[in-house]
Amino acid sequence: MFRINDNFTKLPASYLFSEVARRVKVYTESNPGTDIIRMGIGDVTRPLCPAVVEALHAAVDEEAKGESFHGYGPEQGYGFLSEKIAEFDYRSRGIDIGTDEIFISDGAKSDTGNIGDILSTANRVAVTDPVYPVYVDTNVMGGRAGELGEDGRWSKIEYLPCTAENSFVPALPVNNPDVIYLCYPNNPTGTTLTRAQLKVWVDYCREHGALLLFDAAYEAYIREDDVPHSIYEIEGAKEVAIEFRSYSKTAGFTGIRLGYTVVPKELKGVDEAGRSVALNGLWRRRQTTKFNGASYLTQRGAEALYTPEGQRQVKESIDYYLENARMLRVGLAEAGYEVVGGVNSPYVWLKTPDGMSSWKFFDHLLERYHIVGTPGSGFGPSGEGYFRLTAFNTHENTRRCVDRLTGKS
Ligand code: MLT
Repeated sequence: MFRINDNFTKLPASYLFSEVARRVKVYTESNPGTDIIRMGIGDVTRPLCPAVVEALHAAVDEEAKGESFHGYGPEQGYGFLSEKIAEFDYRSRGIDIGTDEIFISDGAKSDTGNIGDILSTANRVAVTDPVYPVYVDTNVMGGRAGELGEDGRWSKIEYLPCTAENSFVPALPVNNPDVIYLCYPNNPTGTTLTRAQLKVWVDYCREHGALLLFDAAYEAYIREDDVPHSIYEIEGAKEVAIEFRSYSKTAGFTGIRLGYTVVPKELKGVDEAGRSVALNGLWRRRQTTKFNGASYLTQRGAEALYTPEGQRQVKESIDYYLENARMLRVGLAEAGYEVVGGVNSPYVWLKTPDGMSSWKFFDHLLERYHIVGTPGSGFGPSGEGYFRLTAFNTHENTRRCVDRLTGKS
């Protein structure tokens, strides 16, 4: 009989957001008509901006005619988009990234999950805790995690706690990991690291020969000057870091899917024989084999984001969400909640009141206030006793959420 990948059987029964959705479904089925405010999964709610919609329509019209139809595109993405990325997202910040270092994909979730394909299963991994569950779960699938302990930690993964005790700033690892995941602005805590704080990590990776997997999916929410938009703003980062970017939270592409990953040519690991190998070529080989490229339509849509109207419209949308984040942060803090995040991020991270467990608080909010959030413990052991709310809703619903939580309605 054939064998399955046993690593999958080690995983918790369901992915965090599937579990949240399941519980909400059970609740709404037994309480039909309840007015639920959804602030759980970080899914955008505002429509695509007009510049993107126009570009998508034009691209569909092209696909409708034989002379302008596109079949398979370049696996690494169309030049018309990677040139804009290189220019607007990097060169404008003084970072030199070549189009052949940019790999356009269907999103950062896939890329952060798939990157393990080009890394040895012998690598030791470190993650901040709490953490976006994709990093941990995909390392479980890949056989790098070891066994799940009763404390909720995988035996071979080094956890770097980020809690109120250390002001949500992770300490450097002590077990000499080979691969380190950082996500800033952070999912789930919504906190950021300054340029000086990120430099510590780049320097550490350079000294220890570690790979930094830097998830910058929430970069567009940064409004403070000392928070870098790209890890490559830090000197030497191109030798140690892969950066993941996404159009999901930036431009509302959660449904139409698009992102990209930067693998600098300088970035090298070693093979079993100790020879130096560039990751850029390995990722290209992986992508050209397993991925046929993001759709032409979506890439044309994203290209429109780099026009003056596109930039303005996207900023308007993000400002809208940031205003929600501000309402949550300020409203909850005024009512006595301990809150972080929500400044350069659509996520607000709060301490559950009265030492309530994260899932207990989830049930309490759903049943008493009809609000859906995400339990902090779902993001890792150090998330226990915390809870995440997102800014992805209307101003009106955000206000109602704050009022319900602070006893004003
Ligand atoms: C989240 O809620 O953390 C995100 O929506 C998940 C994701 O981006 O995949």
